[in-house]
Amino acid sequence: MRIMADSYARRSRSSDSYFRRNKDFQTSLNGAGLYQNPVISSNVVHVLVSLLGILSLCAGQLPTYNRLLMSLIEIKNLAKTYRVYQKKEGLGASLRGLFHREYREVQAVRGINLRVEQGEFVAFLGPNGAGKTTTLKLLSGVINPTEGSATVMGHIPWKRENPYRRRFALVMGQKNQLWWDLPAQESFRLHQQIYCVEPARFQRTLDELSELLDVGNLMKQPVRELSLGERMKMELIAALLHSPEVLFLDEPTIGLDVVAQHKIQQFLKFYQEKRKITILLTSHYMKDVAALCKRVVVINQGQIQYDGSLTGIVDQFSGHKIVTLQFGKDDSISGLERFGEVLEIQPPKAKIRIERTRVAKNLATILSDHSIEDVVVEDPPLEQVIAEVFAQVGGHEDQDNPDEHSRVMD
Ligand SMILES: Nc1ncnc2c1ncn2[C@@H]1O[C@H](COP(=O)(O)OP(=O)(O)OP(=O)(O)O)[C@@H](O)[C@H]1O
Ligand SMILES: [Mg+2]
Repeated sequence: MRIMADSYARRSRSSDSYFRRNKDFQTSLNGAGLYQNPVISSNVVHVLVSLLGILSLCAGQLPTYNRLLMSLIEIKNLAKTYRVYQKKEGLGASLRGLFHREYREVQAVRGINLRVEQGEFVAFLGPNGAGKTTTLKLLSGVINPTEGSATVMGHIPWKRENPYRRRFALVMGQKNQLWWDLPAQESFRLHQQIYCVEPARFQRTLDELSELLDVGNLMKQPVRELSLGERMKMELIAALLHSPEVLFLDEPTIGLDVVAQHKIQQFLKFYQEKRKITILLTSHYMKDVAALCKRVVVINQGQIQYDGSLTGIVDQFSGHKIVTLQFGKDDSISGLERFGEVLEIQPPKAKIRIERTRVAKNLATILSDHSIEDVVVEDPPLEQVIAEVFAQVGGHEDQDNPDEHSRVMD
């Protein structure tokens, strides 16, 4: 049963309850990213729309890929090296630079292999400068690779074919894709024109998305007057209006407060589960990753360091467990240092960081020496584990054989 946004709105104004109640979310959306121009006026947009019609993405057949033989995203030995101009200081150096320029090479991505199946929600993690955005730009066809190959749904991204553009979307938390001086709804209308989305379908899906993200009352407000969180929601709507099958999300929750982050996580989870789209997400917030992704790919210095389950990454990279002990009233908390690093003592509780391989043995000794009323054994927080992974730059897995990576199949 299709639940229309307006009828639903009568029952509930809250997007939270929409998430809870809407068991059969069937949006049919359209749209895409645009480029902002602070001086553009609404009229100019309409003229542009007509011109863009000529270059519209409406034409072209959707190529198919063989699902039995190919993964939805296939990356083989993909590499990207940037050439960066080294400008020296001083007027003399600037003048010399007119005739002889010096360049430095930055190997942002160094021959990565990756396969992503249809419907996966994959976290693409790595420290600053690891090559995440570069990889997403390659997969979106924004830049060309130096070496290697990649296909997304059978398309080679950097061929920038219209049929491919209609099937994916890229959202960058750090970049504005909406027209800055115009209300978001104007940008959405432009998307509709560019992607030739039938008006009724456009309106229906826009209503549903704005209801889900709770931004219906902000549609007429210029984008520059929106808060960061509100703008991000609009960016997501724009990206999803053309019902992309693949979504590349580059730090979509950057700079958002915890409530806004949670809203966006909730939305993405709901949308991905209902639409079964494939999402590659980069984020420095481990809460995003824990809430959304079962599979994690870690890239460091342009190479894939880990590809496997979220739980696997904790097992593989965290050498410790956190043990919380609750001592009996008459027991004294002392001598815990010999079991591990004592993190906290707040009688009657104490928290120790114990080497994973010694947890069982040490606990047995503690239980025989003390009167313990309660024990909790936990993995360290995900942030800590990921920090440990990032620190272990040397220990890469074999890049030539992606099958040797621990893969998540569930
Ligand atoms: N257009 C460019 N020209 C030159 N070098 C670039 C360019 N874009 C990125 N780089 C370099 O490539 C490397 C990888 O950058 P990239 O933006 O892919 O990292 P990232 O993993 O997305 O990092 P962050 O978490 O900070 O966003 C960095 O060393 C960066 O300086
Ligand atoms: Mg980045």
